Amino acid sequence: MMRPVLSLDGLQAWRAKDAKGQSCASCHSPDGIELTAFTESDLRRRILRHHSGDLAEQVVRIVTQNSNRLKFIGHDYRPFQPGGSVLPGKTPQERDGAFLANLAKQHPFLFKPISSLAQALEYQKEILAIDLRSVPIGIEVNRLSEDSALGANHATIANWFPDVPTFDSDQLAAVSDAYLQNPTEENLRKIDEKAVLLSSLHDQFSMLSLAKYRCLNLLQHEMRTGKQTSFLPPDNPFWQIAEVGRVYADSDEITLHVPETIVLDKSMKTTFKSQMRQLRLPWFWLGWIRDPSLTKSGLSRETLRGDYFCTYLEQDGPYMGHEAFMLTRKLAEQNRNPVQPNFPWEIQYTFFLANDPLIKREPKDPTAKELFRRLTHSSFVMSLYLLEQDLRARKKAYHPIPQGSQIKFLNQYLNDIHQPEAALVGRVSELLATLPTK
Ligand code: HEC
Repeated sequence: MMRPVLSLDGLQAWRAKDAKGQSCASCHSPDGIELTAFTESDLRRRILRHHSGDLAEQVVRIVTQNSNRLKFIGHDYRPFQPGGSVLPGKTPQERDGAFLANLAKQHPFLFKPISSLAQALEYQKEILAIDLRSVPIGIEVNRLSEDSALGANHATIANWFPDVPTFDSDQLAAVSDAYLQNPTEENLRKIDEKAVLLSSLHDQFSMLSLAKYRCLNLLQHEMRTGKQTSFLPPDNPFWQIAEVGRVYADSDEITLHVPETIVLDKSMKTTFKSQMRQLRLPWFWLGWIRDPSLTKSGLSRETLRGDYFCTYLEQDGPYMGHEAFMLTRKLAEQNRNPVQPNFPWEIQYTFFLANDPLIKREPKDPTAKELFRRLTHSSFVMSLYLLEQDLRARKKAYHPIPQGSQIKFLNQYLNDIHQPEAALVGRVSELLATLPTK
């Protein structure tokens, strides 16, 4: 559904500055299309924070007219929640069980055993073909908005809107106009680039706001065009939001430079840590499904391996089934799309293996455990075959020590669940140990 081109004159009030020099366009989309999610009274309540009198009325008119009418979606709206809604279950474990059960229904091949390279390649092909945005998860993605006016449990910055402006919205007007007249991906990219160029980032809190702005920019584009966009800015702002949550979870609002008014409005003195927690895991997931190889989200080793992502899938869960699935897709993806062309592929299950023995961290529920075991077994076997193929083709071993230790751990787990793969494990370990490394 393509929205009609609106009259750009109407945007004057949308772009009018308040006493602090901020306009709606500083923190919302080029025309406020995403605000169709709210009621007119929500809209009025928010406008009064910035404008009064005629100007306030003009903004109401613009938003209601430009969006043709307010279609209230509800305050529970969680944009980009994969599969449209969060899986049922009172605890992370229950939702993780629901994740595995749903996966087994949607993609039964994931749970089938693999016993040859040909089957491993088929498995890789199949898992790569899954549209990750259609796979529902047990993790709640942040709501579009969280307004403390709706109650104390809405007092959180874990939402999609920038908390502080990071650029002068006047300077974004030209690219915004071009985009509104012709909302192509190319013009969308220009808004993203210009916002980055214009932004003045004093600290990590403004960096968080810019990252939110850039994610919102993608969201509003999909709302406008009714189509998914594969456009992802080169430094994955979804992932950046998660990183702020991760880095500051053990810190405080002062270190993050949160302005005093926001500290008060969001009750941060008591809930800062929990707000950081609400940011990290959901945005890691959203960042990952747009960059499933994790090669386009900043090239740190931790990101490529998915270290922190795995850490929080366990700590903020446990979501062991989600973790097994994510790693399998990520490894399949990195094998297909290496960091650089022809870069050696590596078995790397990070903390999924390099932690307490996996057998102790499996799902407890018997049905979930059974599915988890089958998924993990196939995942390990796929990886071993892919590695064996890579080693034989290259005749060189890459990172033999860490890979050897990962194989030792995965072998231990396969033995623990009585699904030994001694011959395959033996062949791959032998190749790793004997092939030259340079
Ligand atoms: C400094 C950034 C900023 C500016 C400027 C801004 N907003 Fe917002 N807006 C937010 C944030 C952040 C939220 C999420 C709620 C919160 O954190 O208080 C929000 C939420 C909203 C909501 C949803 C409220 C709800 O019920 O959840 C509406 C509607 C809205 N803004 C409209 C506007 C309009 C119209 C303007 C211009 C007059 C504007 N905003 C200016 C940051 C901004």
